[in-house]
Amino acid sequence: MKFFADTSDLDAIKDLADCGMLDGVTTNPSIIAKSGKEFIPLIKEITEICDGPVSAEVASTDFETMMKEGEKLTGLADNIAVKVPLTEAGLKVCKNLSSNGTMVNVTLCFSPLQALLAAKAGASFISPFVGRLDDIGQEGMSLISEVLTIYENYPDFHTEVLVASVRHPQHILESALLGADVVTCPPSVIKQMYNHPLTDKGLEGFVKDWAKTGQSIL
Ligand code: E4P
Repeated sequence: MKFFADTSDLDAIKDLADCGMLDGVTTNPSIIAKSGKEFIPLIKEITEICDGPVSAEVASTDFETMMKEGEKLTGLADNIAVKVPLTEAGLKVCKNLSSNGTMVNVTLCFSPLQALLAAKAGASFISPFVGRLDDIGQEGMSLISEVLTIYENYPDFHTEVLVASVRHPQHILESALLGADVVTCPPSVIKQMYNHPLTDKGLEGFVKDWAKTGQSIL
């Protein structure tokens, strides 16, 4: 399973890369706005840190402008995945860019039928948003299960299921059990996965007992 960092925080991205926990990065206009930084140079910097796909989202909603934005973003680095919204115009952009070999991440997916359309449009990634579905009282993970079933039924589809809007480690566990290709999550959620109280307790005991031996390994 691949881990993408859903952030534009360069230190957090480097930190995950150093631990071998970074397979890609996703951003969106809200993440960029929060960073307070210039979009294009920031994305370029991220592509230099991360070898895997870096999703950069178009800002317009009409076909012609999204195409121009997508082409500009594609030119920034070889590992750019252009992120487009799951609209009719967005899927038309997806079809055009993916036909030219550009990776496209179709975002804001909330139904299995939308995911079916994205696969037909040649998306490299479909991003179903589990947390936002949970927020409105629906089962976000059921969407992942349905999308995976549909894609498995049609082996000609090559779209990877990228679980997005991840809020807690349980989303990652369930994604892994279902066999989702990728999860994208805030670095803080990946950090939570390291923790277990028995690990802390066990380590404390080992450190104490080792001190009693009076030895040093070095
Ligand atoms: C995915 O690519 C999105 O950027 C992201 O996961 C959205 O998450 P949110 O619902 O926490 O904003």
